[in-house]
Amino acid sequence: KVEKPFVFVIFGATGDLTKRKLIPAIYALAIDNLLPDNFYILAIGRRDYTSEIFQNLMEEAVKDYSQRDFEKEVWNGIKGRITYIKFDFSAPEGYLLLKKHLDIFSEKGIHNHLFFLAVAPNLFEPIIIELKKNNLLSEGNGWKRVMIEKPFGENLEKASELNNILTDALPEERIYRIDHYLGKEMIQNILTLRFSNSIFEPLWNRFHIDHVQISIPETVGIGSRGSYYDRTGVLKDMVQNHMFQLLAIIAMEPPVKLDAEHIRFEKIRVMRALRPFPDNLSDSEIVLGQYTEGIVDGKAVPGYLQEEKVDPNSRTPTFAALKLWIDNYRWQGVPFYLLTGKRLNRKNAEIAIQFKESPGVKLYSDYACAKPNILVFRIQPYEGFYFQLNAKKPGNYYEMMQANMDYCQTAEYGNNSPEAYERLIMEAIRGNNSLFTSWDELNVSWRYIEDLEMKLSRNSVPVYPYPAGSVGPEAAVKLMENDGRAWWNMD
Ligand code: BG6
Repeated sequence: KVEKPFVFVIFGATGDLTKRKLIPAIYALAIDNLLPDNFYILAIGRRDYTSEIFQNLMEEAVKDYSQRDFEKEVWNGIKGRITYIKFDFSAPEGYLLLKKHLDIFSEKGIHNHLFFLAVAPNLFEPIIIELKKNNLLSEGNGWKRVMIEKPFGENLEKASELNNILTDALPEERIYRIDHYLGKEMIQNILTLRFSNSIFEPLWNRFHIDHVQISIPETVGIGSRGSYYDRTGVLKDMVQNHMFQLLAIIAMEPPVKLDAEHIRFEKIRVMRALRPFPDNLSDSEIVLGQYTEGIVDGKAVPGYLQEEKVDPNSRTPTFAALKLWIDNYRWQGVPFYLLTGKRLNRKNAEIAIQFKESPGVKLYSDYACAKPNILVFRIQPYEGFYFQLNAKKPGNYYEMMQANMDYCQTAEYGNNSPEAYERLIMEAIRGNNSLFTSWDELNVSWRYIEDLEMKLSRNSVPVYPYPAGSVGPEAAVKLMENDGRAWWNMD
């Protein structure tokens, strides 16, 4: 439980993120009794609401979007702490109003402020500049921290500009750049599984691991985000951030300590060791795709080019399968395959570590049913892990079968693990930024993706159409087959 009082200031309070994630997260933290007795929410938006209207809207949001049961008493405890302030984020006058509100809290001895920027990226800069101008980011009595939603820039240049403005206003350790994948339960469990069990680490290298697969297939399309997505595409929307974070956590060396400084240090070393793609790209390194109309979960859905605010001639990819190499001592020669895409036949995020074939398998070749050992981290929708082993089938004949150890955390604990935003807000209040992305990580990952995008355009790499509801482009299946491997759990 956090003891010190604080004010949670939300910029973009009338947007989707606030109602779907932020307020339900605060509610869940209150249910778990993790918040101090004295915390307040200042919700800033451009709509003409009163605090009362806003509070009622948020009550509906909690009922609709929280995974927890609605407890009137807990909600009432939060409701009365929310003040809505209306102003235009790019107009300086609003910040004077905000300052007035914060001064009133200061008079009551509440000096800690967590600013959450849940706004369109073009507003990050004016907000930070105004907060700084009004001296709202300097730490006198209490802490002042900024949480900032993705996307952090649209490209390296924009990300660097934004970063300069941020670091000019406050130091790196008070900037909490969100990658919500880092808030997911099983991502943290990867570190626990790797470093608290002595059986895995000795095998976690090129001598024993054949390859690694990281996949985040999704059934959703791009929804109403056409104008953002069409400029961005899958490589920047999913690979540069979420997938690179997962890759770094799987591949990193054990950190000296489990704190932000040491974990980030090790993750950056992995990202720096990523081998740049060759100048001449082919289907054996990267396959891009774009969904066409099809059927997902029994419903007919439009193709990407028919989505709102998408250029009808767009070549923006909504699917990518990539083969990456990490040029360091531990991983030399071990391919890391990444797959992600919209409107696929399945939604699950998983990391599969496939171990090398046992030399002893040859002893059993007549029975031809030995399978490689695979350790799978299930990130969502089910949380847990799975380990595939070979065993003898009971009976008089010698046959093999797979004895699989399947730990389903969701079945054991129900759907109760904290949602990503719950954990991220809590850690920001605690001042732990190990679950957030540092500038160095972003800088390296942006450089890598921009280099790849440049090579893609030079090579005019095809963007294969794939029907919505399918496994993705056939070329992605081939990418694996040609290496004598197969995607895990594709159907
Ligand atoms: C977001 C992307 O960062 O992550 C979306 O912008 C994507 O395009 C989403 O759908 C996936 O997150 P999750 O938690 O649903 O796997």
